[in-house]
Amino acid sequence: PRVAVVFGGRSSEHAVSCATAGGVLRAIDRGKWDVVPIGIAKDGRWVLAADDPEPLAIAPGHLPEVDPDAAAVLVPLSTRDRSLTVLEAGEPPRTLGDVDVVLPLLHGPFGEDGTLQGYLELADVRYVGSGVLASAAGMDKHYMKVVFAAAGLPVGPYRVITDRAWRADRVAALATLEGLAYPLFVKPARAGSSMGITKVHDASGLEAAVEAAREHDPKVVVEEGIVGREIECAVLEGHGTDAPRTSMVGEIAVHGAHEFYDFEAKYLAEADVDLRCPADLPAEQADEVRRLAAASFEALGCEGLARVDCFVADDGRVLVNEINTMPGFTPFSMYPRMWAASGLDYPSLIDELLTLALE
Ligand code: DAL
Ligand code: MG
Repeated sequence: PRVAVVFGGRSSEHAVSCATAGGVLRAIDRGKWDVVPIGIAKDGRWVLAADDPEPLAIAPGHLPEVDPDAAAVLVPLSTRDRSLTVLEAGEPPRTLGDVDVVLPLLHGPFGEDGTLQGYLELADVRYVGSGVLASAAGMDKHYMKVVFAAAGLPVGPYRVITDRAWRADRVAALATLEGLAYPLFVKPARAGSSMGITKVHDASGLEAAVEAAREHDPKVVVEEGIVGREIECAVLEGHGTDAPRTSMVGEIAVHGAHEFYDFEAKYLAEADVDLRCPADLPAEQADEVRRLAAASFEALGCEGLARVDCFVADDGRVLVNEINTMPGFTPFSMYPRMWAASGLDYPSLIDELLTLALE
């Protein structure tokens, strides 16, 4: 079958998406899948990308980018035609033929948030991962918590500062945070890879932190910091009517100069982070994380895959922090590593996701 691997995109996680795509391009079974790599440049242009994982890796001083000047790709807008057309300067339009399935390896808004998924629904093209609603709710740290809480899942204390509230009266908006215990995490509602997040130790840091989050999203979520361990679990949809599968749980332990698992720690300072899988956790707590991960996946109506990030608090509580409907997906990312530790290696995982999308 032919698979369009789509990556890059207009969000601040463009480079992370490129790194994810690099991993997939290197590992996907070429004997089985006919791959068309499609990049979405930062300005939103869709282009035929080079089928080369090498330049897509993140390294200190190098954030990979889709070349906006590569040959443009026209994608179908209606259900009448699933073929892709390539436009190269000075050449007649050339068709690439039909696409059987899209692998949308996009992180962040305009890709992981239901917009691309809606577009693919309109065109009636199959794709890997969650649909419109689960993608949109999974991208929005506010509505994600609303859904989790409504499903009876434990979430930590938080508040939302809307764009209108902030612009109308900052002092009043900050006053709504009273009652939350420091440290606080101030986050853009719709972003990823820790972009725009600040850990705030007292009220004097709040205003600047809200402004920093607003650079990414006018809606801001403020969460109480949980004292404890960050434990993650990978979820994979089941076949047919089977329940979602959960991986062994993994742990992120950050040391060095990082306040938390920030962008630096995630992608550039490997030496400062230990990713442990399986996490050294009592079986009872590990089981609870897996139970919450599957329940979170179902509460949002996810499809395909998701990584659920939990906190195991020092006081013993297990809380759901967030879900990611297109988690980082390089061979070194937590999602594939948790599956590898659970007996499903990276190439087989890619195969499984594409197979599920075609079922
Ligand atoms: N948003 C990043 C890619 C993650 O959740 O892994
Ligand atoms: Mg996230």
